[in-house]
Amino acid sequence: MSTVSARVSGRTTGGRHPGEASGPLGVEPDPASGFAATSPGHSAGSLAKFHAPEVVFGIGSLGEAGFAAVRLGARRPMIVTDPGVIEAGWVAMLRHHLAEAGLRPVQFSQVTPNPKDREIRAAYEYYLQEQADVLIAIGGGSCIDAAKGVAILSGNGGQILDYAGVDQVSRPIPPTLMIPSTSGTGADVSQFCIVTDTASAVKITIMGRALVPDISITDPLLLTTMPEDLNAATGLDALTHGIESFVSLAHNPLADTHALNAVGLVFGHLRATQEDPGEHEHRTKMAQASLQAGLAFSNAILGATHSMSHQVGGLLDAPHGVVNGVLLPHVIRYNAASSPQRFIALARAAGLVVDGLPGQEAAELLATHVRRLADDVGVPRGLGELGVTESDIPRLARTTMHDACLTTNPRSVSVEDVAQLFRQAL
Ligand SMILES: NC(=O)c1ccc[n+]([C@@H]2O[C@H](COP(=O)([O-])OP(=O)(O)OC[C@H]3O[C@@H](n4cnc5c(N)ncnc54)[C@H](O)[C@@H]3O)[C@@H](O)[C@H]2O)c1
Ligand SMILES: [Fe+2]
Repeated sequence: MSTVSARVSGRTTGGRHPGEASGPLGVEPDPASGFAATSPGHSAGSLAKFHAPEVVFGIGSLGEAGFAAVRLGARRPMIVTDPGVIEAGWVAMLRHHLAEAGLRPVQFSQVTPNPKDREIRAAYEYYLQEQADVLIAIGGGSCIDAAKGVAILSGNGGQILDYAGVDQVSRPIPPTLMIPSTSGTGADVSQFCIVTDTASAVKITIMGRALVPDISITDPLLLTTMPEDLNAATGLDALTHGIESFVSLAHNPLADTHALNAVGLVFGHLRATQEDPGEHEHRTKMAQASLQAGLAFSNAILGATHSMSHQVGGLLDAPHGVVNGVLLPHVIRYNAASSPQRFIALARAAGLVVDGLPGQEAAELLATHVRRLADDVGVPRGLGELGVTESDIPRLARTTMHDACLTTNPRSVSVEDVAQLFRQAL
């Protein structure tokens, strides 16, 4: 691996925007080496940091939740969840395991999909009122992000929207235990927290190492109650994480392995989980895909698909994974012009035979392959079916330019490019 010459934060480079000069975590990644230097002002050879929680994985691992909470010092933990996860029976099971460990948790259950700033405020006030300590999220990305939001406010004060961007959370946060029920957002292992700014109808991205949870418990059993459309959406979200992180400007070899493996697992197992929701083998593979894609993007960050998707999610409260599934093939084609070689490995991981093909052809095959998977699992072909109209595009394109995930997209993107991508995906 070649030597990294770190380009430290504070400089604007092509494809970045005023006020977004630094790369993820405050450093500029080195696209040639694949490594990002770890601290500003530090020029290091082949140096990478890899952030990850303690991971407990496997069928029945929910039974470890009590021990895990106790290990984190819980005396009065707060569960953060939503009505759908309660109805599926998983919260009662979690409470049982916490009781076995001698814990009597308090519970906040009013999270909605694409969690809103006001929900995080309400959950935080309840957390304060109950003098709770460890935060335990059980649910999809929305519950996990809501719990992260409470943790941020508890450690740092202010309003949740104050923390948009990279490394704005400067003080320590309470311990967090995350239990995902979708496969998935990877929020249970990631250093991201995505919140809807209700006044502006956009989703903001909070990013920083302080947000990496302490413990993640992935029990594939929880996935068996997902409705089909949620399973499809979250599976495509995991696929998008794998693909975007692998071509990200901040990719590194430690993250790459997870990204490629996740891509293979989604193509190999997502369809089967739709056919037989109750079986365990394919579920476990999808749970692993979600986890590995999460580890990959948490460390290598994402790209234009997510930047654009966050705007649609904020405007229409649309399901995150569905929007990603629609946008991803268009962004693959766009990005292939700047990093064609990376798409050869991705296409191979997806199960395509691309020996001897130029990168751009491999990328085209991959884009078609993604669209076919999206068709097979019932994802709409265009954003129009989700309610996006031509007249929304200028605004969506404008707000995309402020999203933190755009900083690591491999090809520079102008507001006109984004508008064109939205039009193609309409
Ligand atoms: N922080 C991150 O790193 C990160 C990464 C990607 C996406 N996200 C965010 O995650 C959110 C999307 O999360 P999601 O797609 O996991 O869904 P979600 O958390 O929004 O849940 C959607 C619905 O599914 C229900 N549900 C969840 N699990 C279930 C189960 N096992 N059985 C039955 N019903 C279940 C919930 O009750 C809810 O009604 C978005 O806000 C997105 O921006 C965050
Ligand atoms: Fe995502």
